[in-house]
Amino acid sequence: MYKVHCLNNISAKGLDLLTDEYELVDDPSQADVFLVRSANMHDMELPATLKAVARAGAGVNNIPLEALAEAGIPVFNTPGANANAVKELVLAGMLLASRDLVGGISWVRQNADDPEVSKAAEKAKKAFAGGEIAGKMLGVIGLGAIGKLVVEAAEALGMHVVGYDPFMDAQKAAAISTDMRFTADLNELLAASDFVTIHVPATADTKGMIDADAIAIMKDGAVFLNFSRDSLVDDTAMATALESGKISRYVTDFANPAVVQMERAIVLPHLGASTAEAEDNCAVMAVQEVMDYLNDGTKVHCVNL
Ligand SMILES: NC(=O)c1ccc[n+]([C@@H]2O[C@H](COP(=O)([O-])OP(=O)(O)OC[C@H]3O[C@@H](n4cnc5c(N)ncnc54)[C@H](O)[C@@H]3O)[C@@H](O)[C@H]2O)c1
Repeated sequence: MYKVHCLNNISAKGLDLLTDEYELVDDPSQADVFLVRSANMHDMELPATLKAVARAGAGVNNIPLEALAEAGIPVFNTPGANANAVKELVLAGMLLASRDLVGGISWVRQNADDPEVSKAAEKAKKAFAGGEIAGKMLGVIGLGAIGKLVVEAAEALGMHVVGYDPFMDAQKAAAISTDMRFTADLNELLAASDFVTIHVPATADTKGMIDADAIAIMKDGAVFLNFSRDSLVDDTAMATALESGKISRYVTDFANPAVVQMERAIVLPHLGASTAEAEDNCAVMAVQEVMDYLNDGTKVHCVNL
């Protein structure tokens, strides 16, 4: 009997798939399997019994991949299972950045006690006017599970798209969209785009890839969206760019002490994958991957061995 410990809440849709050879345990110290979402495992003591770790999600920077690899313990993730949830939030992020919806909604709340609020709204609304996303150029950095869906959705809304992914060739890119302009030059994407959205993993190579130099290449007044990880963006450079107006809005899913102070940042509390559908999809995939591995050694979506 394998003991499974959940380091975070894992959707019942996934846990219900565990067969009779598996039992859920509250005590991590005897666990054979860890199921995890965002819990930080870096400082955790790992039980000697541990045989597999599955992350119900895509990013794995909360997991000590190398230490686990050295111990021969595979780590699985669930790429694509939450991609639609993130894509939908990226669309929302572009709309939040192009129309002052946040300002407009808070104006209504502030004027909730005014019996003449309808009349006042007609006068106030010009302060919250904006632009449309149709016809604008969107740059998509990283054309994996999320980036690909963002390309398709943005094109369906009438946007033009330029895509960049150093691990993809023009032929593969054309399979995503023949309308998308594919470039092997990140600077070309940055220079051409009204909106730029980044969908790459947080690694040593991608840390700070959106720095002062990258921002300098971008169009004046461009919008930058980060639904990947905060380490990809140099916060000091972004703060300067927002203050000068070089970047008009920074939409980020990663609240940290620096971005919450930025006046023109729209900051969300890591909501990208927080939908019931994504949590179900990720849990089902993570549980299946672990059972496949422990049943016959199959390693699907193993990220460290
Ligand atoms: N906000 C959230 O809640 C949330 C949810 C899911 C995923 N994410 C983040 O989104 C990231 C992307 O997720 P995904 O499912 O699309 O992953 P994925 O692995 O399917 O795609 C990542 C893509 O990035 C490309 N890439 C790698 N390095 C690159 C670079 N330097 N420049 C450009 N492209 C590069 C890869 O070739 C790949 O195509 C995850 O790593 C995770 O950090 C965030």
